[in-house]
Amino acid sequence: MANENVSVWTSIPFWRRSAAWVTGFATILLIWLTFDTLGQISMGTDADLKNGVKKRVPAPTVINYHIDYKMDAKRGHEVPVIGEKQLFFGKEWSEKEAAELLHLGKLTSQAKNCMNCHTLLGNGAYYAPDLTKAWLDPAWQKGGPLQAMTGKNTVEEAMAEFLQHPSQYPTHARMMPDLGITAEEAKGLVAFLKHMSSIDTNGFPRNFSKTVEQFKTGGTNAH
Ligand code: HEC
Repeated sequence: MANENVSVWTSIPFWRRSAAWVTGFATILLIWLTFDTLGQISMGTDADLKNGVKKRVPAPTVINYHIDYKMDAKRGHEVPVIGEKQLFFGKEWSEKEAAELLHLGKLTSQAKNCMNCHTLLGNGAYYAPDLTKAWLDPAWQKGGPLQAMTGKNTVEEAMAEFLQHPSQYPTHARMMPDLGITAEEAKGLVAFLKHMSSIDTNGFPRNFSKTVEQFKTGGTNAH
């Protein structure tokens, strides 16, 4: 009989069934991945911070805490570690104030198009340093060259001063132009940068810790 010799690979019903199964499986997988991602990227709450619950994207009130960047041996890269309470621009910010400040910073970063030159969370350009972890850059900390050049005593004040008058602080051959950023907008931007540095980005940008090592051994890190 002719039918007995038909190979399964040339059988139309076989391919039709396979297509239906593959489509069905992929649909379920995509739905599952969507919900899993939403869970991973949803912002934590102030209560999470107080109770030490770790979220990839912490609440805006994370600006009230010291943020460290430590090697996680198991994961093989650095992760942000939220530490002790720390005043931000000389005060502790309520949930509402922190959310508003962060919102102002985000809007300003869009209005002034920081991404045109910098990269934020993997999006943007590499004309200027990646800003994802800029807050953690030792050059902005006490004793670091960037903080020293502004004559300020805290990371936030130094960064805010730089952002308002970058052309007064040539740190590199390529200079950042003055973008007409006000004092209030600069505060918002610094909150935005501090919050962004507290996000667990699986060790991205990859070269950040390498540049930090360079800094520790005597070079400057900003670039
Ligand atoms: C036209 C390009 C351009 C735009 C737009 C721009 N920057 Fe910059 N930025 C630079 C350059 C170039 C540097 C390096 C400056 C230097 O080394 O003197 C820099 C440096 C910085 C630094 C210091 C880098 C470090 O390692 O910490 C910060 C912070 C920063 N920019 C934030 C911002 C923010 C926030 C915005 C948006 C409001 C922005 N920049 C928009 C070009 C730009």
